[in-house]
Amino acid sequence: MKLSDLLIVIAIFLSVPLLGETPLIATVSARNTISLDGVWNTIIDPYETGLSSHFYENAKPKTKSDLIEYDFDRSPKLKVPGDWNSQRDSLLFYEGPMWYQRYFSYQKHEHTRTFLYFGAANYLTRVWLNGTKLGEHVGGFTPFNFEITDQVSDGENSVVVEVDNTRRADGVPSIHTDWWNYGGLTRSVELMQVPETFVEDYSLQLANDNKRQNLKGWARLNHALAGLEVSIEIPEVGVHYKAPVGPNGLADLSIDASALACGKKIAAHCAAPLQVWTPENPKLYRVSISAEGDRIADEIGFRTVETRGTQILLNGRPIFLRGICLHEEAPFRGGRAFSEEDDRTLLTWAKELGANFVRLAHYPHNEAMVRLADQMGLLVWDEVPVYWEMDFQNPGTLENAKAQLRDVIARDHNRAAVALWSLSNETPISAARNAFLKSMAEYARQLDDTRLITSASDKAEHPDDQHVALNDPLGEYLDVIGLNEYVGWYGKYRPEDADKMQWTFKYSKPVIISEFGGGAPYGMHGDKDTRFTEEYQANLYQQQIGMLQKIPALAGMTPWILMDFRSPRRTLVGIQDYYNRKGLISDRGQRKQAFYVLQNFYREKAAENAGK
Ligand code: GCU
Repeated sequence: MKLSDLLIVIAIFLSVPLLGETPLIATVSARNTISLDGVWNTIIDPYETGLSSHFYENAKPKTKSDLIEYDFDRSPKLKVPGDWNSQRDSLLFYEGPMWYQRYFSYQKHEHTRTFLYFGAANYLTRVWLNGTKLGEHVGGFTPFNFEITDQVSDGENSVVVEVDNTRRADGVPSIHTDWWNYGGLTRSVELMQVPETFVEDYSLQLANDNKRQNLKGWARLNHALAGLEVSIEIPEVGVHYKAPVGPNGLADLSIDASALACGKKIAAHCAAPLQVWTPENPKLYRVSISAEGDRIADEIGFRTVETRGTQILLNGRPIFLRGICLHEEAPFRGGRAFSEEDDRTLLTWAKELGANFVRLAHYPHNEAMVRLADQMGLLVWDEVPVYWEMDFQNPGTLENAKAQLRDVIARDHNRAAVALWSLSNETPISAARNAFLKSMAEYARQLDDTRLITSASDKAEHPDDQHVALNDPLGEYLDVIGLNEYVGWYGKYRPEDADKMQWTFKYSKPVIISEFGGGAPYGMHGDKDTRFTEEYQANLYQQQIGMLQKIPALAGMTPWILMDFRSPRRTLVGIQDYYNRKGLISDRGQRKQAFYVLQNFYREKAAENAGK
């Protein structure tokens, strides 16, 4: 094993940020940053020559006899953010190392620290600044950052990044996926300047008590000095709150936002108690957090989510999750979605469907997606890519998965919309897998005990044609059972067989049908028994809806899937053409018949729920 790989395994095993990586600064999107997005020089390096040839030095021949066998300035360009596969036909199927380089000029300031922040890069990333290695990161869907205060120069700087999306057996995800392995600097790259002491992270949530007026949380300072204070302001409800910072840089927050607590001076405001966040009324409050010269502001909604028996409660009231799955696939142009515009298109389609819930499959989507869900009133199932068979025996793989879970929770834990952390999808039952996911569940609860833990299992068994049972032992560690079932598409059953099926679940917990569906390219028509026709797909939805409503513990559903998406497994010419066609909407935005079948059902459910 190469030394660099061994160091990666050790760092992952110690579950500390990788070499050089600094703890994730969770407040980036609440800060002014300098964008490094745009056009970058790139070198495709299938044999990874760049490491031994020191591409990271961005060297130039000094004399006419000097031998330098690369030149970023004369190399092809790629846009950042963006996967490389959808930017050039010649790169569509490319998997391997790619080198990125760009220059930026910078002005240093006294008493200021500087960080280089990546929204995400798929999959293994190595970063150099002015020839000095900053560090490495593993995982394609979570943010990471490096402190560069000492490395960055006043004036011209050169940053070089190697991104390698080679699939790995010990990776997370592993070798096989039903989505395109888009590689590259898939999300924004930014420079962040902060004071020497700054707010690194915070959490503010509604306490789960009857009054629903108390806020609980914490704030963590980076480089905290003794005797500091954190201030929390929520002007709309008259909250002006201070808390001492402890020796570990942490301040505990406990705020009574009810009218009584804000005294006479802003009585008018206090007439309006804190409004809870709901999909129908996604109320967000502007919250500012400041300490020692650092000040950030964020938009936060306050709500509680819990289970009671087989029900999911939002703000203490049962809710039915009218959901849909989606991939982070860009509508119309294809490729990995990254912009607010991409996200708004997808989430607007989900709202049009009548959804109040989205399953972001099978990995953390970009931050804008989750923030938009917060604003648009869509509850979120946030998932890490523990997908299908994985190297469950490998401690390094477990720590890698935990690191991705840690970072998505760090990024999204202030989003009211996020109700569920999902640990995995369709993993084969084994002792090693069960232990792996048990450890993940414990870690998730340790990091955030205010949300529900779930996973999607596809391990339902058919003792006979009328009965289906899910006894997956994974359910023991979860708050909510996720079940993927493809009655009427995969396996021997036709859509109509769904109607006579009785479902049983080993664990008496809320059940979300986290996938069902069938494929049909938009515009392909025929009778309802002909595969890949819109009529077949629509009929399948009709039959599924009938079957699922008979499940007593059904608390929600997220059919597979909102929009067709690219997949290397879908090779059927003229029908799939490397797209999974199970979308209710084509990748060109065309609604299929099944879209309206589900929309009608969700309208009924919404009316039913409104009446309660
Ligand atoms: C699986 C899996 C998805 C996949 C889908 C399909 O259930 O979770 O990632 O795309 O089935 O086969 O279309």
